[in-house]
Amino acid sequence: MRNLGKLRIDGERLAARLDALAGIGAIEGGGCCRLALTDADKAGRDQVVEWMRELGLFVRIDAIGNIFGVRAGREDGAPVMTGSHIDTVRTGGRYDGNYGVLAGLEVVRVLNEAEVLTRRPLAVAVFTNEEGARFAPDMMGSLVHAGGLSLAEALAVRGIDGALVGDELARIGYVGDMPVGTIRPHAFVELHIEQGPVLDSEGVTLGAVDSLQGISWQELTIEGQSNHAGTTPLRLRRDAGFVAGAVTLFLRELAQRMGGNQLATVGRIELVPNIINVIAARATMTVDLRNTDAAALAEAERRLAAFTEDLARSEKVEIRSRRLARFDPVVFDTGIARRIEQVAGRLGHSIRRMTSGAGHDAQMMARICLAAMIFTPSVGGLSHNVGEFTRAEDLTAGADVLLHTLVELAEE
Ligand code: GLV
Ligand code: MN
Ligand code: MN
Repeated sequence: MRNLGKLRIDGERLAARLDALAGIGAIEGGGCCRLALTDADKAGRDQVVEWMRELGLFVRIDAIGNIFGVRAGREDGAPVMTGSHIDTVRTGGRYDGNYGVLAGLEVVRVLNEAEVLTRRPLAVAVFTNEEGARFAPDMMGSLVHAGGLSLAEALAVRGIDGALVGDELARIGYVGDMPVGTIRPHAFVELHIEQGPVLDSEGVTLGAVDSLQGISWQELTIEGQSNHAGTTPLRLRRDAGFVAGAVTLFLRELAQRMGGNQLATVGRIELVPNIINVIAARATMTVDLRNTDAAALAEAERRLAAFTEDLARSEKVEIRSRRLARFDPVVFDTGIARRIEQVAGRLGHSIRRMTSGAGHDAQMMARICLAAMIFTPSVGGLSHNVGEFTRAEDLTAGADVLLHTLVELAEE
């Protein structure tokens, strides 16, 4: 094959597509709200599918709504796949997920223009509901694709607004006819913004991601009794609001005590009836625990369970726990991580090995094929925030490394 070393991504075209997609579901401050399977998600999907067709990709959609744009190779067989997601959290930025999908399309555009046909086919994937912000678990589409969750179970998931995945998928017209898990790639490489402070604070352009921390999500429901805030002595209260606060405080202290990489977040608390002078009868709260160490993550879960058991007794409330997601830490393929480093070195970009603090579709794809990730810096480490920002030159650098990593993998 002729020398492809000089091929480069057109950063302006990539930025233009990022702008256009960010205009769908745009919210104040430059961010995006495209919760999974909403009208805004449908509009985003329609736009990406249109771009895929313009590029000549063969668009296939599976029964959980994952979208795959496939580009033929010189030979048939397992494709080299890239991609990510385009759903966002309610107050999301414009790069999370979208960057990986649109950079994948730019790779295709560069190869089309240079009339390069790789040995293996290439595929750009858009996975359904990566965020888990509306329907848990997160990484739902890639998890189903990898066989970690049945299609029936996924379709039956009820969201925070009471809607069902199956109903919403049908409503937006994205129940595809391809059975889930059909396309089994040779390798999967996901390009994503870091969403944390490491690269930005160290002044390094890229990350070769070789591992990803474990994630434990649960929802706690605390049942107490509402009563008058002015007349009920403390000893007679069954105060669900107080208990939710105590659990929140415990989790911060737990993470501090355990040290290492333990993290704990309470991102949502809902009180009923939620009135100034009424003791809360019910609290519903989410717990997000993460650790790079599987045993430590399990230990954090055990300590939380022991604490809530004692607390339920002493505060005379009932505490129920419902698991929303549970994924062990993942080790990516070191061969691909090394290749990413070599490509970055050749292109003159600084790069370091790193672990991912966020969950990604690549962690599910790692169950069925060789997988790794490329990170680009998030200015100020900000993400899941409308102020999420990555510099144009870093976006281009990451996409260039993706281009050459995919081409190499597609030739092997
Ligand atoms: C997925 O975006 C996560 O919460 O890490
Ligand atoms: Mn993401
Ligand atoms: Mn995200």
